[in-house]
Amino acid sequence: MASDDQIITQQPKSDQSPPSNLPLKEIPGDYGLPILGPIKDRYDYNYFEGHDEFIKSRMEKYQSTVFRMNMLPGQFMVSNPKVVVLLDAVSFPVLFDLSKVEKKDVLDGTFVPSLAFTGGYRTCAYLDPSEPKHNKLKRLFISLLASCHDRFIPESQNCLNDLFKNIESNISEKGEAYFNTLSDDMAFDFVLRLFFNTNPTDTKIGKDGPNIISKWLFLQLHPLITLGLPKMMSCVEDFFLHTFPLPSFFVKSDYQKIYDVIYASSACASLLDQAEELGIGRDEAAHNLVFLAGFNAFGGMKALFPALMKWVGLGGEKLHKDLVDEIRTVVKSEGGVTFGAIEKMTLTKSVVYEALRIEPPVPYQYAKAKEDLVIQSHDASFQVKKGEMLFGYQPFATKDPKVFENPEEFIGTRFVGEEGEKLLKYVFWSNERETVSPTESNKQCPAKDLVVLLSRVMVIEFFLRYDSFTIQIKKLPLGSGVTVKSLTKATT
Ligand code: HEM
Repeated sequence: MASDDQIITQQPKSDQSPPSNLPLKEIPGDYGLPILGPIKDRYDYNYFEGHDEFIKSRMEKYQSTVFRMNMLPGQFMVSNPKVVVLLDAVSFPVLFDLSKVEKKDVLDGTFVPSLAFTGGYRTCAYLDPSEPKHNKLKRLFISLLASCHDRFIPESQNCLNDLFKNIESNISEKGEAYFNTLSDDMAFDFVLRLFFNTNPTDTKIGKDGPNIISKWLFLQLHPLITLGLPKMMSCVEDFFLHTFPLPSFFVKSDYQKIYDVIYASSACASLLDQAEELGIGRDEAAHNLVFLAGFNAFGGMKALFPALMKWVGLGGEKLHKDLVDEIRTVVKSEGGVTFGAIEKMTLTKSVVYEALRIEPPVPYQYAKAKEDLVIQSHDASFQVKKGEMLFGYQPFATKDPKVFENPEEFIGTRFVGEEGEKLLKYVFWSNERETVSPTESNKQCPAKDLVVLLSRVMVIEFFLRYDSFTIQIKKLPLGSGVTVKSLTKATT
């Protein structure tokens, strides 16, 4: 290991460009005693301190945004829980640099759910682009997205219309509406309608889709989940959720229903032909499409939409009024909600980016060092060995105080104007910078533009109908829970 005062000259890929002569430091932190260290960290992380506090307290203790720790689930589910944490806007983007890192089987971190959840196949999101199937599958998905382009806006408007009607009827019946459940229903409907031309309620899935997929997601991701039970239940929860993998048979027959519907859908038929032309079997392609619909799309929207509602809701009446003014003026002058109209709504666009910055829907990103490499933070360089696991905790990187002023504050106008737009390269929600586009050979979400568009349409359609709203929020095992308490209908 080099001494503290050794100077290196390597520039990081990030264009945040810290000085090139940063001191090379040893990465602070340790992994504790074998077996006991990872268990202690898991308890501290989940039960005694909480995720953010655990990370923050170590960042403060080591005075460093790069340090070592054990990551969930640790003992007994993984052989190696050791990670190097990256928490600032300079070091985080090394996770996107595929010349330096490998993305094989790291979607969920240090563990990989059983392939029995995905028909025995490693789906695209678990593949490194050096594996030939990654690029073929991603090409298929990019072409699927392109083929739906003209239906993005009308299909999302239809689904949002149902969502808002359901919120209103819940409020009139019960005095409030739990947004998450209604939003999950909308997201599942939207995904099946958009990608597979299928209305799930007309199939054997019926209304069960969101529950089936939520159960399927839980069974795969339980090692990362804490239910928030009373402290006295910690040991019991920890034993059942974090020490052995839960089996896939709990969801097997339900998963089969979704698979059958997706396999049979007419839109999918030509997709499966395309997959075969690319050298991917129909069964493997169909399991990949279920994963795309359930894990990537539904899973992402399950976290994103409540977070968007939460931050817009907390923005208060002034933000709501400004959004109303912008949205209604542009829609009137452009004659409707079109791609061109949306492009002109600078505040609406900024609000969506700000929500993606302050509460990124997928907070954890991982990658393995392909070679010995040097990672830079704002103020130091660190040597990482080949094969070490890097763990980026995104909410810290996108709230980096050296990049964002008042980073903990939701500022709706943050990304407005030339200066604001310069900050977009520090928004990483899609597993890349917001200024980069997905390709078949990178690991960025191929639906980056669709997700941003859909979020904008949600804000637009909302403020075309309502002047303002109030909410109540709570923290969930994954993401935020939002209850809509009141809606003020549009007066103009
Ligand atoms: C709100 C919704 C969404 C969010 C928040 C989201 C987020 C992400 C993130 C963070 C990744 C990278 C995961 C990683 O490797 O760490 C990713 C990958 C991916 N997403 Fe999305 N996504 C969303 C919607 C969608 C949709 C609608 C699709 C449908 C096409 C999709 C398809 C994919 C695929 C196929 C990958 C793997 C890419 C690759 O392996 O190169 N996502 N998404």
